[in-house]
Amino acid sequence: MLKINNQKIIKDMEQQKEDNNFMDNKSIRSVLQIIKSETTQDGEGVTLNRSFPNSYISEFDPFLLLDEMGPMDVKPGKQKGFPDHPHRGFETVTYLLNGKFEHKDSQGHAGTISAGDVQWMTAGSGVIHSEMPEKEFSKNGGKLHGFQLWVNLPKSNKMMKPRYQEIPQSKIPSGTTKESGNVSVKVIAGESLGAKAVIDTITPIMYLHFKLEPGARITQPVPEEYNAFAYVIKGKALFEQSNNSNKIIERENLVIFDKDGKEVYIQAAKESKDPLELLLIGGIPLREPIARYGPFVMNTQQEIYQAIEDYRGGKLGRIIN
Ligand code: FE2
Repeated sequence: MLKINNQKIIKDMEQQKEDNNFMDNKSIRSVLQIIKSETTQDGEGVTLNRSFPNSYISEFDPFLLLDEMGPMDVKPGKQKGFPDHPHRGFETVTYLLNGKFEHKDSQGHAGTISAGDVQWMTAGSGVIHSEMPEKEFSKNGGKLHGFQLWVNLPKSNKMMKPRYQEIPQSKIPSGTTKESGNVSVKVIAGESLGAKAVIDTITPIMYLHFKLEPGARITQPVPEEYNAFAYVIKGKALFEQSNNSNKIIERENLVIFDKDGKEVYIQAAKESKDPLELLLIGGIPLREPIARYGPFVMNTQQEIYQAIEDYRGGKLGRIIN
């Protein structure tokens, strides 16, 4: 005799209803563009995956650059770094997942960042800094993986006094949910899953590191005025709401969202054996002119000439070891 499992039918119906709610949600942002990062070299010849600027996209207001270093296994004594160089007019945000780097700057700040730590440096009117592999790490080698994001400063803050914030992994707020599979988030800037960042940003910024078990999903609120993108670090991601247009996005890809909604939908593909890891980053576009020359990002060409002159004239100081 056929035994009807009412409980199972009800459960299936509830799941279907929940799926439809996810899919019918008109406030979810659609994917505008997918950009593959390009391999480049910087500093002493450090190999990087650069999402932008590259041949497809020069900047994504208010962001100026996103680099991924690694993941790679560094042989003893082989890791290169970024010796003394200047910055003016923006912020550099370094987030390490593996490895150890040392930072020193002309404002007298010095620090070592390890796995999970964040360094948020506001270059403002100008600093000279060095970002080098830490001595022991360099000697022994090991796994290296990290990110650097450049956040532009508004015209009114470009010449502010330089500032340096270093947040160890233990102080980075995190959140979790099991509502639609296991999801965890580290909140570097902004808010997610009840956790609020400890870092102070000049303009409102969202910088989230999500981890989703295969099949898990989440909708993350993103303020309407924010430009937002995701960068896939590991695993397989789906960002479309409809199953018909689902496209799996893998690592090294930058996903730019349209501003047509208040939320971003993220799902870890069921067929992946690895959890999905990604960065979700957003901020309010400044909509100001950009004059850019290497490590200087100002509003006019005249300000760039001034930055070069100030640097050459020693006005950005020097690193005292
Ligand atoms: Fe730098």
